[in-house]
Amino acid sequence: MSASYETRGPVAVITLNNPPVNGLGHATRLAVAQGVAQAQADAAVQAIIITGAGKAFSGGADIREFGSPKALAEPNLLSLIRLLELCTKPVIAAVHSVAMGGGLELALGCHYRVALPGAQIALPEVKIGLLPGAGGTQRLPRVLGVETALNMIVSGDAVKSEVLAGLPGQKLFDRMIDGDLMEGALAFALEVAAVRPLPLVRDIKARHANADGYFQFARNTVKAMARNFPAPAKCVDAVEASVKKSFDDGMAVERELFLALMTTPECKALRHAFFAERAASKIGDVPDDTPVRPINKVAVIGAGTMGGGIAMNFLNAGTPVVMLEMKQEALDRGVATIRKNYESQVKKGKLKADKYEQRMALLTTTLSYDTIGDADLVIEAVFEDIGVKQAVFTELDRVMKPGAILASNTSTLDVNKIASFTKRPQDVVGMHFFSPANVMKLLEVVRGAATAKDVLATVMQLGKKIKKTCVVSGVCDGFIGNRMIEQYSRQAGFLLEEGCTPAQVDKAVEKFGFAMGPFRMGDLAGNDVGWYIRKRRYVEKPDLRYSKTADLLCEMGRFGQKTQAGWYDYAVGKRDAIPSPVVDQMIADYRKEVGITPRKISDDEIVHRLVYALVNEAARLLEEGIAQRASDVDMVYLTGYGFPLHRGGPMCYADTVGLYNVVQTMHRFAANPHDDAEFWQPAPLLAKLVAEGKSFS
Ligand code: NAI
Repeated sequence: MSASYETRGPVAVITLNNPPVNGLGHATRLAVAQGVAQAQADAAVQAIIITGAGKAFSGGADIREFGSPKALAEPNLLSLIRLLELCTKPVIAAVHSVAMGGGLELALGCHYRVALPGAQIALPEVKIGLLPGAGGTQRLPRVLGVETALNMIVSGDAVKSEVLAGLPGQKLFDRMIDGDLMEGALAFALEVAAVRPLPLVRDIKARHANADGYFQFARNTVKAMARNFPAPAKCVDAVEASVKKSFDDGMAVERELFLALMTTPECKALRHAFFAERAASKIGDVPDDTPVRPINKVAVIGAGTMGGGIAMNFLNAGTPVVMLEMKQEALDRGVATIRKNYESQVKKGKLKADKYEQRMALLTTTLSYDTIGDADLVIEAVFEDIGVKQAVFTELDRVMKPGAILASNTSTLDVNKIASFTKRPQDVVGMHFFSPANVMKLLEVVRGAATAKDVLATVMQLGKKIKKTCVVSGVCDGFIGNRMIEQYSRQAGFLLEEGCTPAQVDKAVEKFGFAMGPFRMGDLAGNDVGWYIRKRRYVEKPDLRYSKTADLLCEMGRFGQKTQAGWYDYAVGKRDAIPSPVVDQMIADYRKEVGITPRKISDDEIVHRLVYALVNEAARLLEEGIAQRASDVDMVYLTGYGFPLHRGGPMCYADTVGLYNVVQTMHRFAANPHDDAEFWQPAPLLAKLVAEGKSFS
């Protein structure tokens, strides 16, 4: 069923019923149209109420129909709204819970709207690179005023119904209902049943006292805020049309802008990211209805950089946490850092003082394993040393209650080996958070060979609860993200050898859209981390070449911001990266030593060597089954590594460029005597896709 029809005395009630959020798919639109026709034809019906079953009025377009002919099949949303407007009996939208996108546009096409407080009202299309395409840009300014409407349309953020209802002069809601929505809506319907003419939002005039000045200001603001995205500026254009043109001409402008945005690479990238996030939450062989283990208490082992941030995630979600360390001083330091983080949020007005205290009250500390056995989940974040991990997991195996999930935050070690330290490898899983763990969205969920399906299902669900984007990775050195970044860093090193400065590389990559180039990132994370890993690699893979420049930098003690010197110089207490003549000299000396004559390297080469290094390694990860799908790789890079969102992630970008072109460029890189020809052999999966004329998606 997609919408039901019933009569309550002289009022027809059409109830959208398309779980989970009453998306306006074709069957639902058809059922609403039929309901309206039935009500029109029934002489006993004096008014029509449209509402939604379950947990939404309507969440808008049915995302399951995106890109399919069904999405446009008649009655499309525009036609359906026109049908409502032309109905000769009053149509009342009874809004509750959620009215977003097309759902809100449908309500705006009704003659009246009543609502419960607490409903989330939004036009979020801008978040997928679009603008509202069924009259939202023309009708919302008419009922809420130009400025409020434009703010909502440009941000895509939801505003509570009672807040909007409280705005002076608003015409969005004709009545707020206290108590039972249907009762209130029925009473309202009877009151307005005989009122004529029927009010239409299109007949209201959208005005602004200083339209030219205001829209110029709005245009400048969105330009500064959304540098890489065309949609917000087009939202401004569309809303401006609501003020300056007739309703029908404004609708034509909206349509034209909507269609133009549909085909932009930015819109494609945002839609890709939207679906990629949903896809990432699914695991091929773990059904959606796999029962999950209850997680009501979490233990965190290690209160260092990661342990504290990890604990905060759970405190924020209202879950009690016990933190274990070896020494009281370490515990005190860890707790103090958590307090400092929360206090800074309170100071910035991002957290209320009472909430801060509530969260801290959920945190306890201990020095003894014997006190943590009742936790449902334990996350280990101790030193990255297999011996230390063994000691910890042996203890955890001894004390944790049966069925508890044992997770490791290791970034490089073998999760299967860690599982083997216990007699319950099925309960062991990797939960790889990114630093700072309370801020970064990405959580790599590392699936060991023995990890039970219900453990995976539990961790994926829990990840959502603590507002992370979870991506499943198989076991390998570096998992998805760090294994790829190693190839990217190797290329960055070769670029220095061949003629670039760190600043030149960073600038090119940042112009492409990365939050930070590789050298600024190294200085932030600490160059010693990579040094430590490379030392291990020199033993494990003696044939794999790295540029020595990074080692020379570390030998100079230039670990990055923490030592006020890295690839760049830093003034005391400042984070501004200042190009360093000392480093430039070190690189120049090294080139001389190995006999490389520096050459001028284009931004294009810089970006593509770095990005295609990610793509080629990711193709290998897919082949090995470490990553489930190309879009998962994109989620890892968008949420964990500052890859530009408007490009959709490395795999989406490669698809946009065309895999044939990507591979041709790799062949050119392979011919460079100073690069790694073997690495640039296209991964077999990539070569296969090119041969078949396919893309990653
Ligand atoms: P850290 O050195 O800041 O903290 C480790 C803490 O563990 C210290 O406070 C130490 O006292 C404690 N510890 C050591 N042995 C212990 C034991 N046997 N029992 C209880 N506590 C013990 O290290 P960090 O950076 O927090 O890293 C922890 C883990 O997280 C490592 O496995 C690391 O690879 C991983 N990781 C680190 C990231 C980072 O950016 N720092 C990112 C993602 C993962």
